[in-house]
Amino acid sequence: MKKFLLALLLIPNLALANSENVAEAGVIDTTAHHPKQMKWEFDGIFGSVDRASAQRGYQVYKEICSACHSLQRVSYRNLTALGFSEEEVKQIASEVLVSDGPNDDGEMFDRPGLPSDKFVGPYANEQAARSSNGGAYPPDLSLIVKARHDGANYVYSLLTGFVDVPEEFPMTQGKSYNPYFEGRQISMPAPITDDGQIDYRDGTYATKEQMVIDVTNFLQWAAEPETEVRKKMGVRTMLFLGILFVILLAAKKAVWKRVK
Ligand code: HEC
Repeated sequence: MKKFLLALLLIPNLALANSENVAEAGVIDTTAHHPKQMKWEFDGIFGSVDRASAQRGYQVYKEICSACHSLQRVSYRNLTALGFSEEEVKQIASEVLVSDGPNDDGEMFDRPGLPSDKFVGPYANEQAARSSNGGAYPPDLSLIVKARHDGANYVYSLLTGFVDVPEEFPMTQGKSYNPYFEGRQISMPAPITDDGQIDYRDGTYATKEQMVIDVTNFLQWAAEPETEVRKKMGVRTMLFLGILFVILLAAKKAVWKRVK
């Protein structure tokens, strides 16, 4: 009887030992890596988005990402905050066609974009987007930096993270291997692949690293255009409270001087 009980006790242990063996022997790791930790100008309480970089990032978005991703919370006129002139913004907006209407005949029509229009996306609807991307939906990028944990570092890591598939990894056809994406298989083909892929208007040479940094700065700005105003307010408030503290301290001393 004793032996039987002992055996019963051992069974779960055996099972455990077995499952550990399986884990070691080749269950494939599909968990996402922690994003690389980069230094950004917008970090910290005095930080702000590097304008020149974000302006180049807009160009990366426009020439590469906008083929698949919308940016529907940003208006063309918001670009003036990045340093584009009103004329440039008018020009940029006028290059897209915006569906408007209905007109007096009840029909929708296309017209050139205006600075007050929101960025026009590449697809008419989600179904069209999915059918062009093997069933996956390229998310709107307006808030992506906020929507993902450690967003800016994540976007940077994702875009620089396309590497060769490890030999034993069972890839689904049509997907790309990326260890920073949960599951490590992403339906986005590497978008930034070559140095000199685009020609920057400001003459900067577009290395891969440069394009990724620039587009990340641009998406950071798009997700939190008001950050700087908020940070400035915070600093002013602290200054104000500091001065108030000194005045109150002086007042208190003056009042209590006579009471001994
Ligand atoms: C050919 C189309 C295509 C292009 C070009 C493209 N993407 Fe994507 N992207 C996708 C698709 C499809 C997904 C969804 C992937 C999935 O869910 O597996 C995606 C997903 C993403 C995600 C979200 C990943 C997540 O955590 O859900 C980010 C961020 C992203 N893309 C950024 C970019 C940036 C920045 C560019 C331009 C440099 C770009 N993409 C260019 C198709 C594209």
